Amino acid sequence: MKVEFIELKRQHQLIKKEINTAIQNVLDSGNFILGEEVKRFEEELAGYCGVKYAVGVASGSDALFLSLKALDVKGEVITTPFSFFATAGAIFRAGARPVFVDIGEDYNINPDKIERAITKKTEAIIPVHLYGMPCNMQKIMEIAKKHNLKVIEDAAQALGTEFNGKKMGSFGDTGCLSFFPTKNLGCFGDGGAILTNNDGLAEKIRTLRVHGAKPKYFHKIIGINSRLDALQAAVLRVKLCFLEKWNKQRKEAAEFYNSSLRNLKNISCPVYVDGRTYNLYTIRTKNRDELKEYLTKNEIGSEIYYPLPLHLQECYSFLGYKKGDFPEAEKACQEVLSIPLFPGITKEEQEYVVSKIKEFV
Ligand SMILES: Cc1ncc(COP(=O)(O)O)c(C=O)c1O
Repeated sequence: MKVEFIELKRQHQLIKKEINTAIQNVLDSGNFILGEEVKRFEEELAGYCGVKYAVGVASGSDALFLSLKALDVKGEVITTPFSFFATAGAIFRAGARPVFVDIGEDYNINPDKIERAITKKTEAIIPVHLYGMPCNMQKIMEIAKKHNLKVIEDAAQALGTEFNGKKMGSFGDTGCLSFFPTKNLGCFGDGGAILTNNDGLAEKIRTLRVHGAKPKYFHKIIGINSRLDALQAAVLRVKLCFLEKWNKQRKEAAEFYNSSLRNLKNISCPVYVDGRTYNLYTIRTKNRDELKEYLTKNEIGSEIYYPLPLHLQECYSFLGYKKGDFPEAEKACQEVLSIPLFPGITKEEQEYVVSKIKEFV
């Protein structure tokens, strides 16, 4: 049996009719940039996330960058070294400087270590809700309030996740989402959104995404071209209706893995807290590379998110970090492995994955 790491074609077969109609409607309207479709999607997304505004942008990376620009952050930004490159990349692009803080056993930034990293230059915190696991936003917001810091949530992997009954992305000054095809809510290319409850900030981000123009061709600020396409918005509007169902299916699949793998020697399953979703199901083992090879040999897809922490990336060497600075993140990079998990994965496929992991152990 062959088990893909992520299977998007299967998902699309189920909603083909609705998607085709939505795309045809956009084609017939002749309106491809922003417009009514994007506006409607923004309203529906804001409603789902329990925030006042959602602003559609070209990607999750731009959502982070435009949040920093809109908040005028240019100093130090505290974030995790265990994330996708875009988290720190956006900080540089905005002219600010990342300051890393090690992670906890849930793979997220350890809130108990944040205060030690705060200096006079610190202006913001970017917590990343990795793999769908919520950061402890109560602690993080308390620290931010105490030190007068902005909070930009990187919720790219956590749409639908809740902490204390509130959706991720609704705690900070802004929340950043990615609609990369493999995310909980994925479009047919690149896309992203910024969530906020702040009227002025929403307006500024709407201006920044069109080169800072307001009105058209008059620029008081310098922005970029970062708009969500009407076609992507149409696809996302269809898929948003299925998000809860798909997140539930991911959770059920994760629970099956938990119960099947929990007692295996040398394998750790992900930490569970109420409200989490599973964008990825990531196990941990000291023999990670051998296990990956074994799964590949048996036609089972798997991925390493992420093999090298951000502070050890070559392009950031000028920051002066070295090996050993963030031992938890560095260890995680050696040991994590994400195994197949997507809405619609069958019991047979999961049983096959489990049987091969057991065989390996
Ligand atoms: C944690 C995290 N932040 C930011 C991004 C960037 O999103 P995008 O790929 O839409 O630019 C991603 C996407 O992979 C991500 O996983």
